[in-house]
Amino acid sequence: MPNAYISGSGMYVPETVIKNDDLKKIYGIDTDHEWIHKRSGIEERRFAPEGVNASDLAVPAAKQAVEDAGIEMKDLDMIIFGTLSPDAIFPGSGVYLQQKLGLCDGPNPNFVPCLDVRNQCSAFIYSLATAASMVKAGGCKNVLIVGAECHSAAMDMSTRGRQVSSLFGDAAAAVVVSQTEEDRGVRGWYLGADGRYADSLCLKGWDMRRRPYIPVGDDDCGRVTPEMMWPYMEGKLVFRNAVERMIQSLMKACSDHEITRDDIDLFLFHQANMRINQYVADQIGIPEDRLVHNLHKYGNTTAATIPLLIAEATRNGKLERGMKVAMVAFGSGFTWGSAIVDW
Ligand SMILES: CC(C)(COP(=O)(O)OP(=O)(O)OC[C@H]1O[C@@H](n2cnc3c(N)ncnc32)[C@H](O)[C@@H]1OP(=O)(O)O)[C@@H](O)C(=O)NCCC(=O)NCCS
Repeated sequence: MPNAYISGSGMYVPETVIKNDDLKKIYGIDTDHEWIHKRSGIEERRFAPEGVNASDLAVPAAKQAVEDAGIEMKDLDMIIFGTLSPDAIFPGSGVYLQQKLGLCDGPNPNFVPCLDVRNQCSAFIYSLATAASMVKAGGCKNVLIVGAECHSAAMDMSTRGRQVSSLFGDAAAAVVVSQTEEDRGVRGWYLGADGRYADSLCLKGWDMRRRPYIPVGDDDCGRVTPEMMWPYMEGKLVFRNAVERMIQSLMKACSDHEITRDDIDLFLFHQANMRINQYVADQIGIPEDRLVHNLHKYGNTTAATIPLLIAEATRNGKLERGMKVAMVAFGSGFTWGSAIVDW
């Protein structure tokens, strides 16, 4: 059976930097840098401008990843798009990205399958497991995975929404998972979910039990209450479960592969909260120099966090060929996952 390795990566963050204090200055939110930084480690995040959505952010990241992999768009066999802030209710953002990358154009269009993965902060690990399985099974040679989020469009930027809006930022990052006969690549993964907490971190948007799904006024316009329109998060519950599940996922991935934390050269943790990541690292006994972070610069970019770390770490020399890498994520659902990759 062939192996599946990460052959290239790319990233894109919007230009506009929103510092913690800008949330107060620009949006009038009753918050401050000290509160946000102390509880999360976040210093700033990027917000995309009006007119830009997740598939737009994904285009430069995807182009960079394809180029970095040393292939061309025509060599892609599949697109997997992880996002919780998709362009539309349907279709998925993957088909918009396919169009925008030009895959449908010209005399030899590349009508690859496009799959959207709606697993929020765990989307990258779920996507990697899916891509690696397809590549190892021989069905695909090159799969593009993109994690892209346009959170700034769908957060309550008032004091009412500050618990959520102070944590999240916009970004896109991508990797290509390619087939190889070399002894390297994605060794395995562990995925999990606990649907009992589905409503503990969510954005409802509409109610499909209603007819129609959004209440309509006499003027024929839809009426959405703030409770439906904005994300809801039970912060402390999320925190407790994140810590528990991330530790459990990492331990399981290590035991399945008969390795210990000391065999791992680099840990790529989902970037939701520095206090969560610090607690997990302390409990497992991971030295500081085996972790990379970028949460302070970008905030929580959900599906994009781990590929963003990959794109940065491969470019700044922290992630090199021959390293053993462990990735772990936790998010809404609740869902979680880990993966072991020989780089
Ligand atoms: C969100 C989180 C930082 C909140 O920290 P906390 O210590 O639990 O704070 P609380 O929610 O208890 O809120 C304490 C107070 O701060 C206020 N507060 C919330 N957000 C605030 C902000 N951005 N600025 C200032 N005050 C804020 C609350 O309204 C509350 O005020 P009150 O006591 O008057 O009601 C923390 O729970 C957390 O990090 N959870 C995990 C979130 C996460 O990672 N989500 C993504 C997972 S993928």
